[in-house]
Amino acid sequence: MKSMIRDINLAKTGHQKIAWVKEYMPVLKDLDARLSQSKPFAGKKMVVTIHLEAKTAYLAQVLKNAGAEVAITGSNPLSTQDDIAAALVESGIHVFATHNCTATEYDEFLHRALDIEPDLIIDDGGDLVSLLHGERANLAKNIIGGSEETTTGVHRLKALDSQNKLNFPMIAVNDAYCKYLFDNRYGTGQSSLEAIMHSTNLVIAGKNVVVAGYGWCGKGVAMRAKGLGANVIVTEINPIKAVEAMFDGYQVMSMNDAAKVGDIFVTVTGCCDVITKEHFAVMKDGAILSNAGHFDLEVNVVDLKAMSVVEPYEARKNIMAYTMADGRKLNLIGEGRLVNLAAGDGHPTEIMDLSFAMQVLAMLYVQDNKGKLENHLYTLPEDLNTQVAALKLASRGLSIDSLTTAQIEYLNKA
Ligand code: NAI
Repeated sequence: MKSMIRDINLAKTGHQKIAWVKEYMPVLKDLDARLSQSKPFAGKKMVVTIHLEAKTAYLAQVLKNAGAEVAITGSNPLSTQDDIAAALVESGIHVFATHNCTATEYDEFLHRALDIEPDLIIDDGGDLVSLLHGERANLAKNIIGGSEETTTGVHRLKALDSQNKLNFPMIAVNDAYCKYLFDNRYGTGQSSLEAIMHSTNLVIAGKNVVVAGYGWCGKGVAMRAKGLGANVIVTEINPIKAVEAMFDGYQVMSMNDAAKVGDIFVTVTGCCDVITKEHFAVMKDGAILSNAGHFDLEVNVVDLKAMSVVEPYEARKNIMAYTMADGRKLNLIGEGRLVNLAAGDGHPTEIMDLSFAMQVLAMLYVQDNKGKLENHLYTLPEDLNTQVAALKLASRGLSIDSLTTAQIEYLNKA
């Protein structure tokens, strides 16, 4: 099977990048050490479709070391790194991805990877699963099962599952406790602030940072902004979350009020029209707008463009300035798309260590339960979450207490 990549001569920096992340992914490294001995995936073929950068590359290598024949594609044309693709080819993995490929090429890459005729799949966003329920549905009968990395993909799977149309069992890794607790909270928290700071080169301390949505991601963003010295203001629609934000020490108010005082805005609700024209009308001159939610509908960019009296211009890399009729300028980062990806490097390596360890365990779980799982969408069992958390603690040299027999008896009685 011949790989399709930009240039094999780029492999050197790809290997360097993979070596770097490996040092910060101890849980995956531990699984690698064990599974490369036992080779649980020997004789199995896998297709992996995830943003093709260094952390994903290490995941692919772990799966290969565990015995699988692996074919990989990116899950977005812009996130593929050509040097990583080259390094993976040198590691003996079939790669079908180039940075900035066309939509036709992207589709072709998915097809070529599927030519391997996989037993197991890992998807990120649902494009692979979509093909396996459409043009390539003929391959579905051989598939033991798969897993999905992200919210959008899980939504697509839920739609299929609700109509009883799934062709094989799928695991929603996105919905595992150890995924959203760490990835959504700490991953989005750090990487969103990092992207805002890098894009603006401004100080956070002393600024009014408005966080819209106090869910898992919003808590992370608020926590990191507070740590950097911001006055954090939370807006919510759910009274319980709003009370939680209040007891966590933040100001709580409506967006109508927050719009007047905010210096930096981060929407992270999963909803649409969180910041719209009535808010733009009262914002301070120089306000910074950003979104960390999945879709670019939280800050209403259509309203913003319509209100700009001159053509919006690039004020700084990744920042567009919109000029209001009274001369105020409002600055939007990364076109209102996921700020941590559009204007940053995405989640930190140590966070993806946990998420990708969950992916490996999901593959083992699917394989070990062949014939037992039905063609439905499942979440990962609780004990696998616990296993990943225990490995993370061990990798940091931390130990915790365990229950004595007397304590177990006491708790069971209670
Ligand atoms: P969540 O469901 O835990 O939290 C969303 C919160 O927003 C809820 O508390 C809800 O009451 C609140 N909310 C909904 N509509 C609102 C509105 N109009 N105004 C104010 N608050 C509102 O969801 P989670 O996990 O925090 O995810 C939020 C979004 O972030 C989703 O779109 C998700 O896909 C995305 N996400 C982004 C990541 C990234 O890398 N940037 C990583 C993970 C998730």
